[in-house]
Amino acid sequence: MKQSVDFQDFVDEVLAKTDIVDLISRYVTLKRVGNRFQALCPLHNDKKTPSFSVSPDKQLFHCFGCGAGGTAIHFIMQKENLDFMEAVKYLAEKSGIPIPDYRSSSERAKAAEIHNKKKRMYEMNAEAARFFYSNLTSPSGKDALDYLKRRGLSNATIKAFGLGYSPDSWSALIDFMKTKGYTEAELCEAGLAVKRDQNDTYFDKFRDRVMFPILDLRGNVIAFGGRIMKDKDNAAKYLNSPETLVFKKKENLFAMNLAKNSKAGQFLVMEGYMDVISLHQSGFDNAVASLGTAFTPQQAEILKRYADKAVLCYDADEAGQKAADRAGEILREANIKTRVMTITDGKDPDEYINTKGKEMFGLLIDNAESFIEYKIGKIEKQYNLEDTVEKLEFIEQIAKILANIKNGVEREIYIKNIARKTDISHESITAQVENLIRKSRRGAEIKAERDEKRAFEERTGGRKDLDSMRLYNAEKLMLNLLCEKEIFKGVSEKLQPEEFTEGLHRRLAEVIYAKQQSGEKLQPMSVISEFAEADAGRVSEIILDDKNVADKKMAANQAYKIIKAQSLKAEAMSGEDDAEKLQAIMDKLKKDKT
Ligand code: CTP
Ligand code: MN
Repeated sequence: MKQSVDFQDFVDEVLAKTDIVDLISRYVTLKRVGNRFQALCPLHNDKKTPSFSVSPDKQLFHCFGCGAGGTAIHFIMQKENLDFMEAVKYLAEKSGIPIPDYRSSSERAKAAEIHNKKKRMYEMNAEAARFFYSNLTSPSGKDALDYLKRRGLSNATIKAFGLGYSPDSWSALIDFMKTKGYTEAELCEAGLAVKRDQNDTYFDKFRDRVMFPILDLRGNVIAFGGRIMKDKDNAAKYLNSPETLVFKKKENLFAMNLAKNSKAGQFLVMEGYMDVISLHQSGFDNAVASLGTAFTPQQAEILKRYADKAVLCYDADEAGQKAADRAGEILREANIKTRVMTITDGKDPDEYINTKGKEMFGLLIDNAESFIEYKIGKIEKQYNLEDTVEKLEFIEQIAKILANIKNGVEREIYIKNIARKTDISHESITAQVENLIRKSRRGAEIKAERDEKRAFEERTGGRKDLDSMRLYNAEKLMLNLLCEKEIFKGVSEKLQPEEFTEGLHRRLAEVIYAKQQSGEKLQPMSVISEFAEADAGRVSEIILDDKNVADKKMAANQAYKIIKAQSLKAEAMSGEDDAEKLQAIMDKLKKDKT
C-alpha cells in the first residue's frame, strides 16, 4: 500500500529515534563482534549457533537461520506479533513521539459513526435494564420477584446485579423505548427486538422472563440473558442477546466487571448466571461465568490481566466435565495455574452453596485438585490397577500427561504420587516420562531443522545445481556492493538491473539504481521500506551482509563477470545469433578487465 509522504516522515522519525541495538537487547543478550552484534535469534528456536546479527551502523538486523530481517519496525512486528502500523505506533510510544492521525476523512467519519452507534447502543441497553429492573418491583413483576426470592437472592443482590423482569407482552419494551426516542430498527440492531418475517413490524425479544444484564469490564450493559420462571420441556430455559456491535460473546465474562476488583488472587470460573450470583451473594466475589459457551482463549486473556490462578467450578454432569476439560487446557495454555473443583451429588455451585453453605463451598475450593491431578484421576477410573497389564497401560497414559509439564519439580511431585499409587518404582516412571520428553524435544528439533532447510531453499529459489547457485550468490554479492557509491559508479555503466535473473534481485537492483542515481546517500532502511513485509527479510539479508571481502572492487568484478556471462548467454539464445557469435562475446568478456 502506498502511504503519503508525511507518513514516511513519521516512520523515518520513529526509526531515527529508535536504536535497534538498544531495542533488541531488551529481548536477547547481544555480543559485539567487530562492527556488529551477534546473538541467538530471538525470533526462532535458535539453540546452537548465534545466527542473529545486528548492525548498529545500518540499524538493521538479520537472522541467517530463519531469514527474518529488516529495521527495528520489522523486528517488533515479528517479536510482538504486530502489523506494520501497530509496530510503528509501538515504537513511537516508546520514544514519546506523538502519533499523527493518518486516516482519510471518510475513514474518520466512519469511525466516528461506529463510535456514536456504540454509544447509543450502550445507552439503549442501560435504559432497557432500568425498565426491566423497575418492572420487578411493580405488580406485573410479582412472580418474577417471588421466583428470585425463592432461589435465595436478597434485594441487595438483585440490585447489585441489576436483575429485572421483561413483561409478558409483545411490545412493552418497544413501547417504552419509543418514548425515550429509540426506533424499532435500533432496538432490533441491539438485539432487544425481533423483526417479523412477513412485514416490517417488530416484537420484544424477551417476554415474561427474569432478566440478567451482562456488563462489560467498564460497566456498560452490553447484552441480556433471560430465564423462564417455570421450567418447561418445549421452551429454552435461557434466551440470550445475539452478537451485536457491542456484544461479542467470546470476549466477555459474566460478572467480570465485579470480579476484576476481587482481592482473592484467583477466579472461580463457572457455567451459569445463577451460580455466579449465588456465589457473590455468599461473599465469593471472584466468580465469573463464560456466558453459556465453551470457555475461550480470549476469556483466559481477560482473566490473566487480573490474576494468574483459576478454579474451574463446572457442573458435575457429563457436559460440565467435558467443558471443564477444554477450559482447563485453554487456561493452562494461557499460563494460568488451574485447579478443578468437583461437586459430587450432581449439583451445580448454586445448588451446593444453597444446601451446604458457604463454609463447605470454601472447603471445596481450598481442596480443589490441580488440573493435572484431575486429569490423572479421570484416567485412573478407566483402569483396574490390581491388574498388571492395565497398570502398565495406566502408567503409559499418565506419562504422556506428565511429559507435558514444563516444571521439573511439579513433574517430580506427580511421579511420586503415581509411584505410591501403583507400587511401581519412582525411577522407572521417571525414566518413562523422560524418554517421552526426549522424544518430543527431538521431534521439535527435527522440525526446526526442516523449517530452516525449507526457508533456505525458498530463499535460493530452489536452486540446487552449482552454476545457478553461483549466479544466485553473485547477484546477492553484487547488490550488496552496489550500495557503495564507488562500486556503483564503476558497475552501473556496464550492468543494468534487467540483467539480474532472480525476481527480487531485479527489483532490488532497480531500487538501488534509482536511489544511487538520485545522488543522495543511500540509506539501507529507505531501500527496505520499498519492499513488502514478506520480502524485507531477504532484502535486509542482502544489504546487511558485510561479506568480509577485503577488496570490494575485485569482488565486484568477479560477480560482474558471472552475471554478465549469464545475461549475454540469455541474449544470444533469444536472438538470431548463432553459437559462434556467442563464443565471441564470451571471449570478449574474458578479456574484459574492470
Ligand atoms: N444457558 C443458555 N441457554 C440455555 C441453557 C443454558 O445460555 N438454554 C447458559 C446460561 O448462561 C446458563 C448456563 O448456560 O446460566 C448454564 O446452564 P445450566 O447449568 O442449565 O443452567 P443454570 O445456570 O444451572 O441455571 P438455573 O440454575 O437457573 O437452572
Ligand atoms: Mn443451576
